Amino acid sequence: MNTNSHLKGEEITPGHPRETNTKKTVVIGVSGGIACYKAVEVVNQLRKDGYNVKVIMTKAAQQFVTPLTFQTLSRNAVVTEMFDPVAKWDTKHVSLAKAADLLVIVPATANIIGKIANGIADDMLSTTVMATKNPVLIFPAMNTAMYENSIVQENIQKLKKHGYHLFGTASGELACGDIGTGKLLDWQQIVAEIKKFLCD
Ligand SMILES: Cc1cc2nc3c(=O)[nH]c(=O)nc-3n(C[C@H](O)[C@H](O)[C@H](O)COP(=O)(O)O)c2cc1C
Repeated sequence: MNTNSHLKGEEITPGHPRETNTKKTVVIGVSGGIACYKAVEVVNQLRKDGYNVKVIMTKAAQQFVTPLTFQTLSRNAVVTEMFDPVAKWDTKHVSLAKAADLLVIVPATANIIGKIANGIADDMLSTTVMATKNPVLIFPAMNTAMYENSIVQENIQKLKKHGYHLFGTASGELACGDIGTGKLLDWQQIVAEIKKFLCD
């Protein structure tokens, strides 16, 4: 029997002691790029630093990293489905959007950037972004030609105009072998930007 009545309804992974969430809730949206592995480090570090971290993954992201990895490191269930038959009564995209002190998309694909810029909400990540009134940080990562594509650049400018916080990319050798812009920033830099934003 759970004697901690105040814990009722909270998600706590069995076997782990409850950690005091003195810090804020950060929702990490992971879209499908090769740089997904860096998001793993971001989640790991934020959780170690005491943040309540919740992860949303797109279908494509799950091709690169499993939800189990994020679930284990965040110690929270990972949200992957818009229509979950076993979910509780609440509309998850709305509750997550409200719970997030900060929503961070890392890595952000050309696709998710394009979807948000055009008001498309056809999966859990894009719908949660649309439903949040809290700040959204976006860390793009893609091939140089994709990043320099004028439509992608136009979408980035459009998102900035609408108040989204877009970060730049690093230059260097990309996973595909090309050399140029579009590389995701280092995970340490991303964690630092998140903390700076939360004034922690
Ligand atoms: C091996 C591989 C690597 C990819 N890396 C990227 C990437 O870094 N950035 C990107 O925008 N798309 C990348 N893509 C394409 C996306 O996975 C694809 O556009 C997908 O539809 C994105 O869906 P999402 O935005 O819902 O996650 C990659 C695809 C493959 C097969």
